Amino acid sequence: MQEIVSAIDVGTTKVCALMAAVTHDSLGGMALQLLGAGEASSRGIRRGVVMNVTEATDAIAAAVEACEHDAGQPMSSAYVGIAGSHISALTSQGMSPIGSGSIGNMEMHRALEAAQAIVLPQNQDVIHTIARSWTVDGQAHIFQPLGMTALRLEVDAHIVTGSRTAMSNLVQCVATNGIDVDELVLEPLASNKAVLTPDERKMGVAVVDIGGGTTDIAVFIDDALCYTAILDVGGHHLTNDVAIGLHAPFETAEDLKRRFGHAVPERVAEDETVWATVFGEKSERSFSRQFICQILAARLEEICELVHENLKKSGYRNKLPAGIVLTGGSSLLPGISELGRDMFTLPVRVGSPSSRLPITGLSRALQSPTYATSVGLLLWGLHDDGFSIHRRFEVEPAMVHSGEWVGQATRWFKNLLPG
Ligand SMILES: Nc1ncnc2c1ncn2[C@@H]1O[C@H](COP(=O)(O)OP(=O)(O)OP(=O)(O)O)[C@@H](O)[C@H]1O
Ligand SMILES: [Mg+2]
Repeated sequence: MQEIVSAIDVGTTKVCALMAAVTHDSLGGMALQLLGAGEASSRGIRRGVVMNVTEATDAIAAAVEACEHDAGQPMSSAYVGIAGSHISALTSQGMSPIGSGSIGNMEMHRALEAAQAIVLPQNQDVIHTIARSWTVDGQAHIFQPLGMTALRLEVDAHIVTGSRTAMSNLVQCVATNGIDVDELVLEPLASNKAVLTPDERKMGVAVVDIGGGTTDIAVFIDDALCYTAILDVGGHHLTNDVAIGLHAPFETAEDLKRRFGHAVPERVAEDETVWATVFGEKSERSFSRQFICQILAARLEEICELVHENLKKSGYRNKLPAGIVLTGGSSLLPGISELGRDMFTLPVRVGSPSSRLPITGLSRALQSPTYATSVGLLLWGLHDDGFSIHRRFEVEPAMVHSGEWVGQATRWFKNLLPG
């Protein structure tokens, strides 16, 4: 039977659903063949979090239906992205004695479980427990301890937690559409898979996904996830600033931003004007394009400053030789890399899902930073991201139908071996 991987990215601006078939080459390597893609405008989502279950459920249904239609088959389960300022991350250590003398899956699993034994604030739950590095009999910085002979195994793990309510609501919206959630995946953990090169992840890099409602940060050094953060700011703020600055409706401001926006106002001719309808006037008025770009640049500088402060506080700002990779829909704004280089004094590039990824059938339209999370979720479903424990949600169908579902979750341990 054909093995299928599906992804649903429930963003603040759009919901995107993708479906792919797993393919195997003669050397045992795995890849994906895209079968279908569907998109719908987002509703009921604010800053990455479900605010209206009915609206969000309908938006997901529309995207999934379009994807199923494109693929010619139904979607039964999916990897679902999660973001929002309720997400926190911390580092924790765990230990496991080695019974049989050599380290097996079981011992690694136990060490990760021990790392998970932390006191969480009320209503917070663990989403991911990801090994950063291992210590074998006191020898630190081991990346692959499997099969080593030892007495004691310790792990340094990155633990991502989120609000139980936010997770439950998101799972409910997906489950009500008859789709099981394979895993909830922190969005920057997915998007990095679509836009970073192995060299960048090895050297040290931060992926910054500027979406509509949130800006997600993930730092990778030595191929390991070191830091994650979700900021409550995104492209909607840019549009809102233009709307306020011009006294124009949000849709008009969004259109102006996309058509005439630039992150570096000096790159736009001083005398260039654009026309738009504003509140209280019947006919269109002209505006300086540079003025619009100045509004956008001011907010973008603020976003970059927030990211910069965050990276400094995390202690990783000076450990990023490969710099910053910007992605998400807002990184489509021309000049954003230039602005980023000025603000971060680091190499900055815009990252899109590209044809070098192990996915065939990725259309030009999907090779855009807007789809980094959706494509990354598919890739997450293809590989295990190293040694990790992720949370799988199982919903009793009866509960969904009776509307009494309150987010029961059971832990599911993914195969500890990568690939
Ligand atoms: N060409 C463009 N120029 C500037 N901004 C753009 C362009 N195209 C899209 N955007 C902006 O990108 C944002 C949407 O990005 P994206 O699709 O990555 O967000 P999302 O995944 O829906 O939201 P989030 O991840 O924050 O929940 C919107 O604010 C939109 O205005
Ligand atoms: Mg997004």
